Amino acid sequence: MSKITVPELRARKLQGPKIAMVTAYDATMAKLLEAGGADVLLVGDSLGMVVQGLSNTLPVTLDEMCYHGRAVSRVAVRAHVMGDLPFMSYQSSPERAVESAGKLLKEGGCESVKLEGGRDFAEHVRRITAASIPVMAHIGLTPQSVHAMGGFKVQGRGAEAADRLLDDAKSLEQAGAFALLLEGIPSELGARITASVSIPTVGIGAGPGCDGQVLVCYDFLGMYPDLRPRFVKHFAEVGEAIVTATRAYVSEVQSGAFPTEAHSFGAGPKAELTGNRPVVAGLPPGYGPASGE
Ligand code: KIV
Repeated sequence: MSKITVPELRARKLQGPKIAMVTAYDATMAKLLEAGGADVLLVGDSLGMVVQGLSNTLPVTLDEMCYHGRAVSRVAVRAHVMGDLPFMSYQSSPERAVESAGKLLKEGGCESVKLEGGRDFAEHVRRITAASIPVMAHIGLTPQSVHAMGGFKVQGRGAEAADRLLDDAKSLEQAGAFALLLEGIPSELGARITASVSIPTVGIGAGPGCDGQVLVCYDFLGMYPDLRPRFVKHFAEVGEAIVTATRAYVSEVQSGAFPTEAHSFGAGPKAELTGNRPVVAGLPPGYGPASGE
């Protein structure tokens, strides 16, 4: 199975199919999302909210992004792995942006980076691209600007704001961004920007007219009940399944129904660990007497 490359993602704009992007933060989920056919695994700084329990993404560090990037990139065989540049890892200068982007590739195993910002960040995009690091630029509702925006609010409403976003999109395309992420903007504007640039757009709350879509994995799997914005569709109720399974486990442990002999090891040397994990002849390290005994 070969990797989905940046040129391939660019070509999707004209050739299709639409780009299906999801966030991933750990190896187990990344494997499942890849098995489901996701084209791009975004190691998003949304991990601050859905993994770390923060109320916004601002405290997330570049080292934390690298840690999660390694977990995801280690197992991604086909999906392209993109990493978010977190707050204040690139804003202060184009030089800082290049260094941080390089770190996400070198230490985080990512294959491209994403940064938030409009034309004011065109130079940052140009410099990162010049270092042979592919960049996606994220415009519209940019969560790292939560305080400047006065909350997580739809952007680009009204003719002037829409024109400004369109200008942002064109500046970032000219600076070398290989794709745009459009978040939290009216559908018509999502379609208008998509028709006005030659690079693919991936939307989240930006309507069906984009060249692809992205969702936070916990959102589309129905695992994050705290927040259910309008643009989120639950494709499963995994959260409910987890609670139901946990209740069953707790009940069986408390009643003594689990484990049975079928889940237990015999005393003989041929005891095997079976199931989804590798079958090991003899006891694996940590499951029995130390070797030599
Ligand atoms: O951080 C993130 O996960 C994102 C997506 C929600 C687009 O930027």
